Amino acid sequence: MNKITVRKATIKDTAGILTLVNFYAKKELMLPRSEDAVIQNLRDFFVAVETAGKKVIGCAALHLYTDRLSEIKSLAVAEEHTGRGLGAKLIKRCLAEAKALGVPKVFALTYAPEFFTKNKFKPSVKELLPQKIWEECRLCPRRNNCAEKCFVYAI
Ligand SMILES: CC(C)(COP(=O)(O)OP(=O)(O)OC[C@H]1O[C@@H](n2cnc3c(N)ncnc32)[C@H](O)[C@@H]1OP(=O)(O)O)[C@@H](O)C(=O)NCCC(=O)NCCS
Repeated sequence: MNKITVRKATIKDTAGILTLVNFYAKKELMLPRSEDAVIQNLRDFFVAVETAGKKVIGCAALHLYTDRLSEIKSLAVAEEHTGRGLGAKLIKRCLAEAKALGVPKVFALTYAPEFFTKNKFKPSVKELLPQKIWEECRLCPRRNNCAEKCFVYAI
């Protein structure tokens, strides 16, 4: 197996992030992202890359809402690389970033609840996260029949 590095994203990773996220969005496992949205939020993103090929094989973003609240978004690992701990590595990197920034709470909305439980997140409800609802959920086409589960991690 090639060596894998998790690092901050750069502009050159944009296409790789879009490919990954929109692959799973087509399967309705996550929300689609436009190129503009990825670029405008690029400083939120971490990528996992194969050091040899520099191909993006995983990504995750830590988005800040307030001084106390952040969200892990756009978490995806390429199908052929799942089950090897890469998802957990990306989560750890986002949690380390939240800690370094001094933001005490990290949440995620997901269709993969077991994955977040394994990574020590606790179940919650998004009604406790008004910032998220105000900024994003109210604009989402699935806002009236959202099946995503909410998980929270206290730093
Ligand atoms: C969820 C995802 C990021 C996990 O990545 P990964 O690199 O396979 O994760 P890890 O190797 O660290 O952990 C794997 C464990 O998570 C669990 N898991 C992985 N995907 C899961 C899913 N969709 N639902 C529930 N549990 C899942 C598995 O049970 C596995 O446990 P095991 O090793 O005991 O079998 C990856 O499967 C993915 O990109 N899925 C599609 C997009 C998605 O659902 N993203 C999350 C949206 S917030």
